[in-house]
Amino acid sequence: MKDPSLRRSVTLFRAFMRERQEPERCYALLARDAADQVERHLPVNGKVVVDVGGGAGYFTEEFRRRGAQAFLFEPDLRELGARGAKPPEGAVVADGYLLPVATGSADVTFSSNVLEHVADPQTFLSELVRVTRPGGLIYVAFTNWLSPWGGHEWAPWHYLGAERARARYERRTGTPAKHTLGVNLYAHHIGPTLRQVRAREDVTVVSARSRYWPFLAESVAKVPGVREFTTWNLLLILRRCP
Ligand SMILES: C[S@@+](CC[C@H](N)C(=O)[O-])C[C@H]1O[C@@H](n2cnc3c(N)ncnc32)[C@H](O)[C@@H]1O
Repeated sequence: MKDPSLRRSVTLFRAFMRERQEPERCYALLARDAADQVERHLPVNGKVVVDVGGGAGYFTEEFRRRGAQAFLFEPDLRELGARGAKPPEGAVVADGYLLPVATGSADVTFSSNVLEHVADPQTFLSELVRVTRPGGLIYVAFTNWLSPWGGHEWAPWHYLGAERARARYERRTGTPAKHTLGVNLYAHHIGPTLRQVRAREDVTVVSARSRYWPFLAESVAKVPGVREFTTWNLLLILRRCP
């Protein structure tokens, strides 16, 4: 699918709306889309791809289908087994803060929708940079807190406060919410994240844009204040400096 395009955004949005009913279809589509985004900058065939916080492994599998040597690192056993099937061969239970990976050994270090689940995004990013070879790419996409989806399953009520939104979700659905602010979901913002990344001397920013927008994907991520509400999900593609 052409990125950005209205057709792509609508297709992804529709799949996302049916994520609960058809997770395989939704995540396979998302994985294809993310791998396409990586391959616009670096073809992955024959390359080493490290998927950090890769959940049940949809992205790892997609990179392998494209000929990459892809490795899945995921700290949560429940996420690894979420598909009810075996996770990809060789999956490693590991934390993104401290990856069991040699320095400079990955051509692509990939992390989709993980940053908002870590308390210390700077340390997490530093570890992604460490394992990436000079000239290699780092793909980081995350849902920022003020995004309409910032509160995850209790969005958009997070705009009225996390605790209230969480309580509302539990009252309405009768099921415990998966996320708790400050425990497994953190209020990260686009402005500070971009400033931190741009201040680093070990990476250059190849792309900073909305991951899903059908047009103006780069422009929406540029306007301070407004971008926090409109970007929805920030995609950063970084290149490791030599
Ligand atoms: C929303 S899921 C995203 C899964 C997959 N990457 C995707 O885009 O569908 C967030 C993932 O981040 C993982 N995670 C949370 N903290 C982490 C950490 N410190 N290091 C690595 N992964 C982490 C979670 O276990 C979970 O699998």
